[in-house]
Amino acid sequence: MEQTFAIIKPDAVAKNQIGDILAVTEAAGFKIRAMQLTQMTRKQAEGFYAVHSARPFFGELVEFMCEGPCVLLCLEREDAVAKWRETMGATNPANAAEGTIRKRFAESMGRNCSHGSDSAENAAIELAYFFPGNILQ
Ligand code: CMP
Repeated sequence: MEQTFAIIKPDAVAKNQIGDILAVTEAAGFKIRAMQLTQMTRKQAEGFYAVHSARPFFGELVEFMCEGPCVLLCLEREDAVAKWRETMGATNPANAAEGTIRKRFAESMGRNCSHGSDSAENAAIELAYFFPGNILQ
């Protein structure tokens, strides 16, 4: 079994899509091992996305992630990192496959309704960042 870190972003929470996205998540075979509704502080969002700090969209990204509540998740299944990215679809919803979460619920590249770790190493870092000592086994 593998774990990954996921976020239902503020755009989807504002549109009452938490339940729909969690239904897709569970139907795709993921167990929810930790879940928290929270509004990120600017400092948390800047720290979380520090790897993108030199990118032109960094300010917009941090602003968006703090604009309202989001849902933080630890998801578990076999091959969780790759399967969650497949379940979300491409970062830009315009390129996302039919039936994926981003195709169904996202508006744009910037407001793309969900996040998923891009490797097992980053999943461990991201889970420790938001759920220190707080994940059910
Ligand atoms: P996420 O998987 O959370 O990781 C980094 C985020 O940066 C990504 O989803 C997008 O929401 C955002 N992002 C990536 N590229 C762009 C871009 N060109 N313009 C705006 N936002 C972007």
